[in-house]
Amino acid sequence: MPESYIQNLLAERIGGKHYGKSQAIYKFEKIKRARRAAMALHPLDELIDLGVGEPDEMAFPEVVSKLCEEAQKTENRGYADNGDSALKEAAARYLDRVCGVPGINPETEVLHSIGSKAALSILPAALVNPGDYVLMTTPGYPVFGTHAKYYGGTVYNLPLEAENQFLPNLHSIPAQVLQKSKVLVINYPNNPTGASATPEFFAEVVAFAKANNIVVIHDAAYAALVFEGKPLSFLATPGAKDVGLELHSASKSFNMTGWRCGFVAGNELLVKAYGDIKDNSDSGQFLAIQHAAAYAFDHPEITEKIAGKYSGRMNTLVGVLNKAGFKAKKPKGSFFLYVEAPRAVARKSGPRVEFKTAEDVSQWLITEKLISTVPWDDAGHYLRFSVTFVAKNLSEESRILAEIDKRLSDDRFQF
Ligand SMILES: Cc1ncc(COP(=O)(O)O)c(C=O)c1O
Repeated sequence: MPESYIQNLLAERIGGKHYGKSQAIYKFEKIKRARRAAMALHPLDELIDLGVGEPDEMAFPEVVSKLCEEAQKTENRGYADNGDSALKEAAARYLDRVCGVPGINPETEVLHSIGSKAALSILPAALVNPGDYVLMTTPGYPVFGTHAKYYGGTVYNLPLEAENQFLPNLHSIPAQVLQKSKVLVINYPNNPTGASATPEFFAEVVAFAKANNIVVIHDAAYAALVFEGKPLSFLATPGAKDVGLELHSASKSFNMTGWRCGFVAGNELLVKAYGDIKDNSDSGQFLAIQHAAAYAFDHPEITEKIAGKYSGRMNTLVGVLNKAGFKAKKPKGSFFLYVEAPRAVARKSGPRVEFKTAEDVSQWLITEKLISTVPWDDAGHYLRFSVTFVAKNLSEESRILAEIDKRLSDDRFQF
């Protein structure tokens, strides 16, 4: 078939005339293919999916009821634009009660998002000019950086390493990069490392931002999923509102990934700029969804229950992995267990197998054990185990964790 003229019209930012022609297979596609192949070979066996990055359960029934109720109101039917006051006010209450951030003005310092992913894709339009640098962490959630590059920006990656508790080393940035840097994007509790920030680190970030005229975007998608103590908000740091924004989401904290709702809060000028770009990008989330999300943010005990479930699963999974030779350590929050990838596995029932990358290990776990994980080879070699596997009740949950134990019991991983 002759090539369509459309091929030559595609923008350079997505590859221009080469778009769609690359033979490269990306990580998540490789995982999908390996899973498909393993299931085709063992159609009767159970694939245990520890690779999922979203909650395994539905939103709580009271939140679903609130949505049904709100969906029937005539006044909620139309374009929501930048939203009414319900979610903004609930967000301000939530930041105060749950995150220890009093005094957020719901009218000027909060705006809803159609999920944090959407907010991260909108914000670069408000901040990035061609030639600007954006400081991101690697491994990490790349959406802000992808859009920053669309606007002619450059991403400078700060590695997250165990030696620095998976916090970026802000002193490592070369002066010529720092000079051109405009934004620092951070995310704690972190995907994929599961690491949490500290008040001292956040204070360092505020000082760094002020000293270098940098905007801070704290992606707090997992902020409320903590296993002990209270969530740690960047906005609770003195001076944080002078330098940045925090992004909260109902997705993980309230099992509402598909609902697409969250909020952006913090610096008034940045909230306004976000609102202006957002207003030119979408027409707002359905008000019934915003109102149900507002209900959820007013019921943080829902998140506590969800976090309690993940915490219990995490305890058992850490034990199971350590028995097999891993060096797993329970994180303080999120649903991710990030463990160093082994260099080899010694097997009772076969020859020793060596691995060069975390991707090799992940492929081996799918093929040989029908256990799916996500590999990260960006800063060291790590596997991400997510405790969001589907289990209807506690006994099902115990059965799955015992099954993982059984599948790994003949092997000794080496590091
Ligand atoms: C770090 C991080 N930020 C943002 C998101 C997206 O969240 P939302 O569902 O609110 O768009 C995710 C989802 O996986 C994430 O891991």
